[in-house]
Amino acid sequence: MFVTHDVSLAARTTLGLGGSARRLLRVEALGDLQEALALAAGEPVLVLGGGSNLVVRDGGFAGTVIEMAIPGVTITADGDTAIVSAFAGVEWDALVAQLVDAGLAGVESMSGIPGRVGATPMQNVGAYGQEVADTIELVRVLDRQTGEIERFEPADCGFAYRTSVFKGSAQWIVVEVRFRLRRSTLSAPIRYPELARALGVAPGEGAPLAEVRRTVIELRRGKGMVVDADDPDSRSAGSFFMNPIVDAPMLAAIEARVPAGVTMPTFPAPAGHTKLSAGWLIERAGFVKGTTRGRVGISSKHALALINRGGATTTELLALAREIQDGVRARFGVDLVPEPVIVGAD
Ligand code: EPU
Repeated sequence: MFVTHDVSLAARTTLGLGGSARRLLRVEALGDLQEALALAAGEPVLVLGGGSNLVVRDGGFAGTVIEMAIPGVTITADGDTAIVSAFAGVEWDALVAQLVDAGLAGVESMSGIPGRVGATPMQNVGAYGQEVADTIELVRVLDRQTGEIERFEPADCGFAYRTSVFKGSAQWIVVEVRFRLRRSTLSAPIRYPELARALGVAPGEGAPLAEVRRTVIELRRGKGMVVDADDPDSRSAGSFFMNPIVDAPMLAAIEARVPAGVTMPTFPAPAGHTKLSAGWLIERAGFVKGTTRGRVGISSKHALALINRGGATTTELLALAREIQDGVRARFGVDLVPEPVIVGAD
């Protein structure tokens, strides 16, 4: 285990924002995790993965950060499927690349997503018609109350759109995720129209895994959603807001505010609900792509990504987020909910 003091968290987040942590413990083995928690007993603990979905306030974190860096991937064939075990510190996209190469289907549409495996069940990471909940077989967590390793079956994980029982809970630390993937060099049916179009297949058809991976990364890059030092639009936490999910009366109320002749994009959601596009609502409320507010702004490629334009503070970023929330509420009566985890003191 590596111990460092007064550690800049800005350097450990894709936004490049936020104050310092009093102490950081880098955990590279399961045994170290128990030791790290014992060391941090009685203080606030922040579990850190790749820092790609994290907003740290300027006052930093007055406690111990535990950086999950436990490596290890094993693949075990099981009939026409395979069980893939990945520990929390594995880079998500390196895992996806490995699985695509191994001819295992089920996560290829989630290519190019930053962060580490341990964070994926937390917010039920998803993109282009796939989410990790579709293929997760088991999540192993450390229960901070008992110090024991517990096993969560998918039914106990509370997976829904960008959430799970683990999100916002201080009780469990994800240490390992097991996926069950299909042994096939052809992807799962492509459900996302934009991806199907880019691949030249009909929605519902499959495509070669490697081609899906390449195409998804291209699409993401075009939206500034691939972390790249040469792309200032990628200095973000990905989507800053969740896409709102509304019931029929709410949908009707919002549609009544859409000007005649304009079609609002809508997507079916479970239980007869409708998912709206937060990016569209933001643009229609007047916050066009490329909007700037001093050192922060909206990505020039995607209205849902808020960016640090260089030397910004988290206070500035959160002020822009609030301005957008107020604007969308005033225009459409919809409350946008931030998607990243926001921690620390002002
Ligand atoms: N749109 C706009 N303006 C924009 C962006 C989008 O009007 O600037 C509208 C368009 O109508 C577009 C629709 O929104 O067709 C959907 O846009 P997109 O395909 O880019 O997807 P998204 O809903 O904005 C979600 C996820 C992304 C994920 C993509 C692709 C959330 C909050 N975001 O974005 O995930 O990559 O779908 O599946 O669910 C993330 O969570 O950080 C993330 C990047």
